[in-house]
Amino acid sequence: METTIENQAFSYKNQDIGNGRGVYISTYGCQMNVNDSDRMYSLLEMANFTPVDNPLEASVIIINSCSIREKPVHKVYSEVGKYKRLKDQNPKLKIGIGGCVGQQEKDKLIKNQPLIDFVFGTDTIDTLPDILQNLIEQESKRKEEKSKIVKAGFAHRDPYHVETLVRNPGVSTFVNITKGCDNFCTFCVVPFTRGREKSRPKTHIMQDIQTLAKRGVKEITLLGQNVNSYESECGTNLAQLMKSIAVETPIERIRFTTSHPKDFDQELMDVIAQHPDKICEYIHLPFQSGNSRILNLMNRGYTREEYLEKIAMIKKTIPNVVLSTDIICGFPGETEEEFQDTLSLVQEVGYETIFAFMYSPRPNTKAAKFEDQVPEEVKSERLQRLFESHNKMAFELARAYENRVLDILVEKKHDDDDKPREGMIKYSGRSRQNKLVYFEAPEAEQGMIGRTVNVKITKAYPAVFRGEMVGSIN
Ligand code: 5AD
Ligand code: SF4
Repeated sequence: METTIENQAFSYKNQDIGNGRGVYISTYGCQMNVNDSDRMYSLLEMANFTPVDNPLEASVIIINSCSIREKPVHKVYSEVGKYKRLKDQNPKLKIGIGGCVGQQEKDKLIKNQPLIDFVFGTDTIDTLPDILQNLIEQESKRKEEKSKIVKAGFAHRDPYHVETLVRNPGVSTFVNITKGCDNFCTFCVVPFTRGREKSRPKTHIMQDIQTLAKRGVKEITLLGQNVNSYESECGTNLAQLMKSIAVETPIERIRFTTSHPKDFDQELMDVIAQHPDKICEYIHLPFQSGNSRILNLMNRGYTREEYLEKIAMIKKTIPNVVLSTDIICGFPGETEEEFQDTLSLVQEVGYETIFAFMYSPRPNTKAAKFEDQVPEEVKSERLQRLFESHNKMAFELARAYENRVLDILVEKKHDDDDKPREGMIKYSGRSRQNKLVYFEAPEAEQGMIGRTVNVKITKAYPAVFRGEMVGSIN
């Protein structure tokens, strides 16, 4: 099938396509959203819909959107616009909006955008097969009987259950352990889009992981908005859950994200330190601002000093730990001096990677109503300075990896323009420190995907490493 992209819009070459039960999901946003799309595909597959990789083969197109930082409605409209031509050519094509934007902007979207056939939220993913089935049935009804908002069906099953819900798990996959968030950081829309925090039962999680291991998964990332507040029905916390996974399952690598500094405790640090063979020594610990007054306004539940104390405990317990973080620049009322505190904290901790964003006012959040909003150009200039100041350190930290041998879990084979040497094949994988590493291996090496191999790093930049395979672990 050929895709024609004109001004980023798609167009059918052949009118016969797009009439079956094919579903295409266009995903943008956070890891949680990617995971949601995977579960949508799996649920739909179970209801006899067919996931397709190309919108031209789809009878249903779903835009699964994230609203954490973007101007979400605009992004959704431009995304819908891309598919307008398909809808003109095939009026039976259904276009739906899911994810956080669907949850928050349901009525507005339906009212303002005639191309949209249905809207659903993050909480009603499991009703998607019913929604689509209803739409198909409505197709045969008279025009005046058709309704646009499809009522949510019943929650038949745990929509986070991976056993039924992961289509192509690959070598490394996410496993949801909590959904929603109760922290109400004043900048964050998540508690409004994903609702109250709920932990999945430990038995479900363990079953999922055992199933995934049987299907060839080697690495899992436990996923939640604040994984440190995980608490199962029998009182198991994150540290105990990770210990059980390390001891009772054949999974080779365990990661977790996202952590909240206020809930990251010594027990968790100890478990990471005690299972160096399984639990990766990589911790993503967002601090958001280096200034205690701003942290208080953000409702983060810790001061700069408390955050730094926690980092010191982590470094003491896990001496080879690699750290990354999230930062917001230009939170309402942030002065230049307060921003300097953010710059200095980055240097003090020595993060290998930072994810930094300009503050963006989100609907329903407290901070959006604060009066002293920082001008766009100041936010943008601070963000740039933050990246520049981090960059120098990031290059130095990366260079320290050159000539080191890392254990790489091989994830993909690459056939791109940058050809490997004669008799070699190009692969990529990740190190325990979450570094993306490209390397070549002899063609004769069999079954590389899913194996852990030793790679000597020859060139290291902050975002990507290159290396040579020097041995194999399994
Ligand atoms: N503006 C900017 N960044 C935000 N984040 C969350 N909400 C906002 C917002 N309103 C960032 C935080 C969070 C990450 C996932 O996104 O840094 O940790
Ligand atoms: Fe948002 Fe704060 Fe919850 Fe993270 S902990 S999802 S930033 S409210």
